[in-house]
Amino acid sequence: MKPFYITTPIYYINAAPHIGHAYTTIAADILARTLRLQGRQVHFLTGTDEHGLKIEKAAAEAKLSPKEYADGIASQFRDLWKALDIQPDDFIRTTEPRHEETVRSAFAALLKSGDIYKGRYRGFYCVSDETFWTEKETLPGPGGAKLCPNPDCKRPLERVEEESYFFKLSRYGDRLLSHYDAHPEFLSPSSRASEMKNFVKAGLQDISVSRAKVKWGVPVPGDESHTVYVWFDALLNYLAAADSKDASLWPADVHIVGKEIYRFHSVVWPAMLMALGRKLPGKVFAHGWWTVEGEKMSKSKGNFVDPLAVTKDFGVDAFRFFLFREMPFGQDGDFSIASLKRRYNADLANDLGNLLNRASDMAIRYLDGAIPESLGERDFIEREKMAQLSSAISNAIEGLDFSSALATIWSEIGRLNRLVNERAPWEVAKTDREKAGEIVADILWGLRVIGSWIEPFMPAAAAKLRSRIGSPRMPMLAKLGDQRRPQDALPQSPGRVSKGEPLFPRKA
Ligand code: MSP
Repeated sequence: MKPFYITTPIYYINAAPHIGHAYTTIAADILARTLRLQGRQVHFLTGTDEHGLKIEKAAAEAKLSPKEYADGIASQFRDLWKALDIQPDDFIRTTEPRHEETVRSAFAALLKSGDIYKGRYRGFYCVSDETFWTEKETLPGPGGAKLCPNPDCKRPLERVEEESYFFKLSRYGDRLLSHYDAHPEFLSPSSRASEMKNFVKAGLQDISVSRAKVKWGVPVPGDESHTVYVWFDALLNYLAAADSKDASLWPADVHIVGKEIYRFHSVVWPAMLMALGRKLPGKVFAHGWWTVEGEKMSKSKGNFVDPLAVTKDFGVDAFRFFLFREMPFGQDGDFSIASLKRRYNADLANDLGNLLNRASDMAIRYLDGAIPESLGERDFIEREKMAQLSSAISNAIEGLDFSSALATIWSEIGRLNRLVNERAPWEVAKTDREKAGEIVADILWGLRVIGSWIEPFMPAAAAKLRSRIGSPRMPMLAKLGDQRRPQDALPQSPGRVSKGEPLFPRKA
């Protein structure tokens, strides 16, 4: 079977990575880990977008050559992903030969087919967004200046009048609309679909795909006075990376992107692929945006959240958890240290941490820290129910509905905590020590299942939890259904339950 191919955007390297970049990349990692746990083959791609005017200018400001500058920031991204327990299978940089080669050959092929033609561009350009705007679209600024109409940008635009190559996007409107209709999953979440359909229905214009004055880019084949427009260049990374690895990888199964670049991914990119005669990705998913302490992150406010600073205080697991517990993927939300702390203490230190502490203390008391070889016939925790929830959780994650998956997991953690109170093994033990042990063994089994559920979100915490309850790694999260018979329920040679440090020490 073809590996399940997941991508993130490739990030601009004009600034250091921040929480927004981490968000998308952790989402892709959670999906990748979930599928790998089910034994599926996965290919997870991320990378950096290194060409264009914005990078050229950032490098000049840093008094470095664009390449030196790019090398520095690209490695910051790579290091950050490692620090956040993100495990991509490939990392592509648009300055790599495998990428530049793909851009050249795609551009040349479209020139040949007539999908790219030479014309003259008259309009405006936003360097920050690397986006062309027509005069009609711009906002009026002071002194007759034109401003970027993107509400999150509004920076002054450059007036551009130059010879340019155009991509015949206008040719693809009808084919795009029929693709959207035939593949309802393509535009995801569905709340995004009508906006894109309306945009296409309103009529597509051909788009400029070269710049005459930008040097830092891939030269247009046969016309070195132009470089390829950075978005035409960047989108091809998904194909370049796949083709350089394994011919069977393409098409991507899911492109995960932020909402602000959805149009490039759901209109321009599929049209480019149609022109190239390549298959279209299965799904393009737009997630929402974080504000920080109620404000938009911006250079002028200097309020970019550095993921490493947050993880220093709260740990990598809590950071990964919070981003997906706090706001539904697809919607916008606010990141604040107060809400992170609240969730940390309530969900992690209390709910999960206490369950583990109580279960392991009782296991040491009533089972002498040894887990029985098999569970008894008596089912205290409704094992069948947990087995079914395993599929629901992995389906939610596959549908990129991370917050529902976490809500389900936490309601099970709550249920197990209540069950401990109700069953009160410490009371039972006064008259029936064996039964107290059976209850505890059941709870431990439940915790082991929970450990497998949280693993994609919090890989390090899941490993610690397993070692505390002497459990091996669960091979397949969704296949727990096969393991609910008592004889399958516990490891062949279970380890020992041990006392240990709290998984999530409370924060004052
Ligand atoms: N280089 C282009 C993408 C090319 S893909 C072929 C680009 N890069 S970017 O560095 O600006 O990164 C954009 C991505 O970062 C968004 O799509 C989103 O995934 C993430 N985010 C940036 N800021 C964000 C928030 N404030 N909140 C959530 N995610 C955000 O665009």
